[in-house]
Amino acid sequence: MGKILTSEEALNLINELPSAGTDDHWKAHSVCVGNAASIIAEALNLNSEKAKTLGYIHDIGKSENYKMHDIAGYELIKKLGYDDEYAYICLTHSYLNNDVDCVAGGHPPRNEFRDTFIKNHQYTIYEKIINLCDLMCKKEVMTVEKRMIDLLLRKGVHDNTHYHIEETLKLKEEIENQLGCSIYDLFPNIKENL
Ligand SMILES: [Fe+2]
Repeated sequence: MGKILTSEEALNLINELPSAGTDDHWKAHSVCVGNAASIIAEALNLNSEKAKTLGYIHDIGKSENYKMHDIAGYELIKKLGYDDEYAYICLTHSYLNNDVDCVAGGHPPRNEFRDTFIKNHQYTIYEKIINLCDLMCKKEVMTVEKRMIDLLLRKGVHDNTHYHIEETLKLKEEIENQLGCSIYDLFPNIKENL
């Protein structure tokens, strides 16, 4: 078992790191994902501190490599000696339905390690929450529906886009069934961002 990472340490870690891209929007986005995940986890009587930490670090690979940030993040967390749980979130956060082709923006470049991992990994509830929060956060929380339109506009429509949207809506429904309410009941301020 690797080291435990607290949400405070995670926040310091991402803020200290550079960005591989031309901007560091991913940092504010990561804070948004972590905070949203902690609200959902709390409502489900889960460990909200863990959910927050996982959200804060999910895109940490963008400090090294934007396009392959999933694998870069996994390797960085392993190198730093943190528990696999934190490394796995870097790999899983973009992919739904245990399928690397269930992702926004077309098909990712093949990577045997990552593709096999995603196929065989049993997603935890925390990983599913981060999947969903990544699909409802830019720098602030918005509806999943608005975020999907944002992704379509930025990343285009591809042959797997319909599949990804379907699985996104299924994931939202799965979490809402566990919550017993609309996800948006947890985010009353969302109406300021419709
Ligand atoms: Fe993200």
